[in-house]
Amino acid sequence: MKLSEAQVNQFNEEGWLFLPELFTPEEIAVLNTEAEEIYKQSREEIWREKSGAPRTAFAAHLYNEAFGILGRHPRMIEPIEQLFGEKVYMHQYKINAKAKFSGDVWQWHQDYGVWARDDGMPEPRAMNISIFLDEVFPYNGALMLIPRSHKQGVLAAEHDKSTTSYPLWTLDEATVQRLYDDGGLVVPTGKAGGMLLFHGNLVHGSAGNITPLPRKIVYLTLNAVSNYIRKPTRKEWIAHQDFRPIEPCPDDALLQYARRYREAAE
Ligand code: SIN
Ligand code: MN
Repeated sequence: MKLSEAQVNQFNEEGWLFLPELFTPEEIAVLNTEAEEIYKQSREEIWREKSGAPRTAFAAHLYNEAFGILGRHPRMIEPIEQLFGEKVYMHQYKINAKAKFSGDVWQWHQDYGVWARDDGMPEPRAMNISIFLDEVFPYNGALMLIPRSHKQGVLAAEHDKSTTSYPLWTLDEATVQRLYDDGGLVVPTGKAGGMLLFHGNLVHGSAGNITPLPRKIVYLTLNAVSNYIRKPTRKEWIAHQDFRPIEPCPDDALLQYARRYREAAE
């Protein structure tokens, strides 16, 4: 799958690109069911909110076949290889729950700031990808982006270890105000199956979810192979150290898996 010149320009200028309904309802349904099963498991890769609701499941591509296929899917991998002009490997893989009634905030932050400080990643040549497993509305904890903020480089940040169950390098209000006054906000929304790409330096965050609607999103970080991390400090299942390039699977691999899964359940 190739991005058009207009899409490449939009990504370079605005720092983000949204591809609505890239995955079909049949492909997404099986991931959705399996994500719920994963959240019931008790394992160190699954983090919970202070309330006990699931917050994120790390590294699910390594212990779940469907999420493994998603992590090698050509509709996701090829646009990123096109933008970086080289092969990519999986730096981080998480399924963020933002559970109905209790999903907690993700404070304003840049991801590359975290990868540089915590993982020793040389350049912001890793891409953030989010794949919607539920419909994302403006009110169920959608991700908010500050367009063009990726052009600011790495901004000063504080290590916030108390607001949520997940420590994060967060930006202060004055910085977010200044960036907002310049760039405004965008909130990509849409049906399950949509895929959002955003630059590692794009400032983003999301509010809590008090609605009765879950907002599960898979967040993947694909790093250019030459930009492998140099000083890992975090667990292997948070910041991966398998730097081998991803070989994409066939385009119908997820569909075939979904059909086998359904037949086995019948
Ligand atoms: C993230 O920024 O890594 C996650 C944000 C979210 O799940 O809303
Ligand atoms: Mn982030």
